[in-house]
Amino acid sequence: MNIFHTPHEMTAWSQAQRRSGKRIGFVPTMGYLHAGHLSLVAEAQRHADAIALSIFVNPTQFGPHEDFATYPRDEARDLALCREAGVAAVFLPAPAAMYAPDASVSVDESALQNGLCGARRPGHFRGVCTVVAKLFNIVLPDVAVFGQKDFQQAAVIRRMVRDLNFPVTIITAPTLREPDGLAMSSRNVHLNAKERQQALGLSRALASAADALRAGETSADTLRQQMRDVLEQHGLRVDYAEIADAETLSPVTTATPGNVALIAAHCGNTRLIDNRVL
Ligand code: PAJ
Repeated sequence: MNIFHTPHEMTAWSQAQRRSGKRIGFVPTMGYLHAGHLSLVAEAQRHADAIALSIFVNPTQFGPHEDFATYPRDEARDLALCREAGVAAVFLPAPAAMYAPDASVSVDESALQNGLCGARRPGHFRGVCTVVAKLFNIVLPDVAVFGQKDFQQAAVIRRMVRDLNFPVTIITAPTLREPDGLAMSSRNVHLNAKERQQALGLSRALASAADALRAGETSADTLRQQMRDVLEQHGLRVDYAEIADAETLSPVTTATPGNVALIAAHCGNTRLIDNRVL
């Protein structure tokens, strides 16, 4: 497995792969890898010949009071997991290798990012779009795989690729969950035993919305309130509980199958997100 620390080395490898006729699959991550990340690698392997994975805790997508400093990191374990999964190249840049001190260009999506996490985390999606655009230019992938776990992120990246003509096919892969329903996340490591139980409120709230719609409840406000109730019953502090159109991410009035339920909630000091297409 190749490990690259500079954009130059990474790009040289990708160009050599392309010259030898290989299709490159790419999985961008912030590390502290779990089975969800590895499922994206497996999906990429179905669409490409050589897989590159990046590990970069991107400072520009964290707000000033967010968890950049405490974001979990374990490089040795991540590299072992990548090796086991058959990743061909890991890109592990230092922040200084990614951002010039006077960097002055960024990528800003201006519609899909307005609600949900974008509204709660100003500047977050500018950081995400900018780093993903840079990573695409460095890694030169044919295919890149993103998780449905970050539903809004996947939508924003698809829009960026469409509107800026990146020659990359975006694939979205399903959310991997723990046996009890909790969506896998690097941040779950921060949960203590009590919070780990409380965190089940997210998947249960989503399930309750899906069940209610199936039983004929079509008022989106009723479904939103029901999700809030379940979250609060689990001792979670609700950031948002939304029923939205899966394409535009706009809130709906009347819920229909194919809409997406999205939640962000604070569990102790940890902010968790989850979603489910109804
Ligand atoms: P990170 O949170 O490390 O997630 C990397 C990728 O893994 C994302 O596409 C995310 O949706 C996916 N993922 C996370 N948990 C998952 C799960 N339980 N099942 C399936 N896929 C899952 O998302 C980021 O990093 C960053 O914003 C990044 C795109 C790398 C830009 O910095």
